[in-house]
Amino acid sequence: MDRQLEKYILDHSVTEDPVLEDLYRQTHLRFVNPNMACGHLQGKFLEMISRMVNPSYILEIGTFTGYSAICLAKGLRSDGMLITVEANDELAGFSRSYFIKAGVASKIKSITGRLQDVAPTIQEEFDLVYIDGDKREYIEYFMLIIDKVRPGGFIVADNVLWGGKVFEKGTKDQQTKGIIDFNEMVRKQKNIENIILPLRDGIMLIRKTL
Ligand SMILES: C[S@@+](CC[C@H](N)C(=O)[O-])C[C@H]1O[C@@H](n2cnc3c(N)ncnc32)[C@H](O)[C@@H]1O
Repeated sequence: MDRQLEKYILDHSVTEDPVLEDLYRQTHLRFVNPNMACGHLQGKFLEMISRMVNPSYILEIGTFTGYSAICLAKGLRSDGMLITVEANDELAGFSRSYFIKAGVASKIKSITGRLQDVAPTIQEEFDLVYIDGDKREYIEYFMLIIDKVRPGGFIVADNVLWGGKVFEKGTKDQQTKGIIDFNEMVRKQKNIENIILPLRDGIMLIRKTL
């Protein structure tokens, strides 16, 4: 996003929650690829979406250090639950400590493992799914979870513009190809409707119609 535009948007949006600000800073101090954390703008957007849907069950694919999980959990019903799946087994202790600081730990169930391995053990029907794992695997995630989304439920997929690389048809880069193929696949799906928003790295909103 253009820097001036981003500054204007930040200057005219609510300020960042201090717990999330600390989580973001610690993520940058202690982990590789810290820019994977969604950060304030997108995090607040996810929180708003979640509050609008007011879900009973949310599924997140790709916890990383927990920033987006905390934002999504804020919109849950009082008896709701967010299940977040993370392949890297070194992150659970850190993310859990921030779930506690943010006051949402009792509403978040963390599963360590690849979505492909743990999906069969997940029985809940979801009102909202957030896809933010490996870009090469987005189609796999979609196929694994679509039957677990309730009719009328939503899927939010991150990074669907992939820094503008989606225009590079014929690319050999597997992550870019993964996103291009995912966007094409969604376009051809029946029983869903979708829109891409140009926020940050591109966010796709998908609604399951039937
Ligand atoms: C972009 S980061 C997630 C960022 C996080 N949602 C946030 O906004 O703070 C992607 C994460 O997905 C995890 N991941 C990759 N492949 C996965 C898979 N197959 N199942 C579950 N997690 C996966 C990675 O280990 C990484 O931590």
